[in-house]
Amino acid sequence: MQLDLTQFRGRHVFVAGGTTGINYGIAEAFGRVGARVAVLSRSAENVATAQARLQALGGEALGCVGDVRQPATVQEAMARAVAAYGPIDVLVSGAAGNFLALAAEMSPNAFKTVVDIDLLGSFNVLRSAHEHLRKPGACVIQISAPQADTPTPWQSHVCAAKAGVDMLTRTLALEWGGEGIRINSIVPGPIADTEGIRRLAPTPEALERMTARVPLQRMGRCEDVARCALMLASDWGSYITGAVIPVDGGLSLTGPRDFASAAAAAAAARSRA
Ligand code: COA
Ligand code: NAP
Repeated sequence: MQLDLTQFRGRHVFVAGGTTGINYGIAEAFGRVGARVAVLSRSAENVATAQARLQALGGEALGCVGDVRQPATVQEAMARAVAAYGPIDVLVSGAAGNFLALAAEMSPNAFKTVVDIDLLGSFNVLRSAHEHLRKPGACVIQISAPQADTPTPWQSHVCAAKAGVDMLTRTLALEWGGEGIRINSIVPGPIADTEGIRRLAPTPEALERMTARVPLQRMGRCEDVARCALMLASDWGSYITGAVIPVDGGLSLTGPRDFASAAAAAAAARSRA
């Protein structure tokens, strides 16, 4: 028995925050198996690059410039995507922001900015998509983070925001289950060569310490996360909803991380710049 990837041919996959890193990896994985993929993010350059890379795979792709903090731009992007590709079969909500800062030192606007992007932004994406999701059959995937479940110094903003993201997943699984919509969170561990890791492990030493903490003793790859997304969206995932699924080499079993030295290294790099 094999996962039948032909089931994604012609499917509409919309990835919010899908132009770089882990989320782009998910967009590309669906593109490679024949889905029609729309990606949304703020930077016109990121959007153009992602759209061109997706089109180079030989399929259809649409790039939309927009900010998940602005519901109108999300609605407009989705309307364009739905006009082009029909109802959304797979929705990925992964836009996020992060930096290392202690709660007592960050400004209220710094905290609010991350909550606005990660949590309110996710709500805006899910809320805007609801009318466009295929019913029954749509699959929604939120990209969470280990901080949602593990209290982590220097990350109070992300902890609070991503905890909200996972609770949104669980709650909407109840509200939308009757319409045949499934929704789950994927919780990536440390994924190599991503902006998130550049921010949380800014030096080779920090990267080494982080890798050493992972029970499987390696950093994750974007394709590790993308494969989980493919499985969830496939018929193999058809009875999974409201789940929060770590793809983290076991990191979530190891307790809080210490970002103090990573934060000092990041601050030193900033003061040198
Ligand atoms: N430490 C403390 N505060 C910081 C900070 C840092 N490293 N970086 C930004 N802030 C504060 C700013 O000072 C500002 O607060 P203020 O108005 O009180 O001064 C607030 O956060 C908003 O910053 P701004 O640069 O205006 O936000 P933005 O909306 O342009 O960008 C960020 C959002 C800050 C999250 C930006 O880093 C970003 O765009 N990130 C996306 C990429 C990313 O983080 N990827 C990893 C995902 S895991
Ligand atoms: P990334 O490349 O920076 O991905 C974030 C994406 O979101 C970018 O494409 C960015 O593009 C977009 N984005 C940011 N703010 C946005 C906004 N306001 N509106 C619309 N789009 C916005 O970082 P990443 O490390 O791959 O992280 C991707 C996801 O994985 C995030 O949800 C993160 O929390 C999660 N995660 C990452 C790791 C890791 O190891 N990297 C671990 C756990 C969880 P623009 O700049 O063009 O807007």
